Amino acid sequence: MKVLVIGSGGREHALVWKLLQSPRVEKVFCAPGNAGISEIAECINIKADDADALLNFVKYNWIDLTVVGPEVPLTAGIVDAFVREERRIFGPDKSGARLEGSKIFAKDFMRKNGIPTAEYRSFTSCRQAEEYVRLKGAPIVIKADGLAAGKGVIVAETVEEAIDALKMIMKDNAFGDAGKKVIVEQCLVGEEASFMILTDGKTVVPLATSQDHKRIFDGDKGPNTGGMGAYSPAPLVTKTLEKDIMRHIVGPLMKGLKRERINYRGVIYVGVMVCQGKPFVLEFNVRFGDPEAQPILARLDSDFFELLKATAEGRLKDVTVTWKDEASVCVVISSKGYPGEYSKGEKITGLDSFKNDKNAVVFHAGTSMKHGEIVTSGGRVLGVTALGQDIKTAKDNAYKAIEKIHFNGMHYRKDIADRAIKKQQ
Ligand code: AMP
Ligand code: GLY
Repeated sequence: MKVLVIGSGGREHALVWKLLQSPRVEKVFCAPGNAGISEIAECINIKADDADALLNFVKYNWIDLTVVGPEVPLTAGIVDAFVREERRIFGPDKSGARLEGSKIFAKDFMRKNGIPTAEYRSFTSCRQAEEYVRLKGAPIVIKADGLAAGKGVIVAETVEEAIDALKMIMKDNAFGDAGKKVIVEQCLVGEEASFMILTDGKTVVPLATSQDHKRIFDGDKGPNTGGMGAYSPAPLVTKTLEKDIMRHIVGPLMKGLKRERINYRGVIYVGVMVCQGKPFVLEFNVRFGDPEAQPILARLDSDFFELLKATAEGRLKDVTVTWKDEASVCVVISSKGYPGEYSKGEKITGLDSFKNDKNAVVFHAGTSMKHGEIVTSGGRVLGVTALGQDIKTAKDNAYKAIEKIHFNGMHYRKDIADRAIKKQQ
């Protein structure tokens, strides 16, 4: 079978890596991919959001399954275009992708379906949003309605900060049309977890639990990023909490999708805030989390290709999912300056030593080839992922592996998974 993976980050490298472990997969293509992916798959020079060119590629190369990594092609309707042409594709159609593409849609959906989430109101007028902020006081959360590359949420500590955020989004159009509408939301205090499920619209298969570290600096300080590291399993998500999430969030979510006649086939990432032991939904994503996908896929024992194909074909009930008992930890290495302006083109050394490493695997995110060398080309550059008999051992393995890697300005957190280790002590 031939598979096409769409995207170019650490998540996509992990997807490609795991798919290639299936005995049924003979070849994987990736569009556009990165330097690390090109070592194990054939990268093709088509952008992730060029649905017409991707569909043509799939037709002419007899691709059996396409797997969409990022949210942008999903919200633009790539699945609808593929389904029209009877091509097998993993991911939700445009109607399902609204769960991530419009925060107002997602919040209204939660309210309608009784899914626990923070209190909120949506606004098209900046002045009215400001009035509401003054009424509610701080801390308070401001969210652009549409996709904003992970930058559209501001957790404001003061009323002034919240009003500045509203102006930046609604008046200065920092996120273009994505900021024409906003949500003003109650600030929840608790601990976050990432809970992902696979669904074909009928059957739900929960994936292993995970947590990521969003802030750039140790001690969860500094600005938010796409994620500086992640681990699986998440000790925060106990069996009881998992049952709660399935019953109070995933159950009503599936019922709501059915009621809205959304035939969802793909992964749903539920961003959960656990407040005094109870789960509340912060957001839905319609794709695998990044970096969470990296430690989760490192723990997957089942045939990933079969799992994705069965989801796309609506027969998820036929497959079983098993996980390794080991824990895994992924530490992200970023470029100097990220999540702000960062440098590019720095030569990366030490990657060759991982070719036969049994403990650790390096997933590439922002890397490319220049004159035969691997150089940095993005904010998040690499994700070093390691397994271990428990989280502490997996963490030690990941940090041992990192010592071999070098590039100018490399930054990584030294405390990934510490909060999980503390919980277990
Ligand atoms: P989102 O994209 O909606 O998950 O927001 C990104 C990040 O902002 C989340 O991972 C949280 O850290 C934070 N956040 C979002 N909504 C809230 C909220 N209501 N209360 C506190 N923090 C939030
Ligand atoms: N790591 C958070 C996300 O993928 O949205």
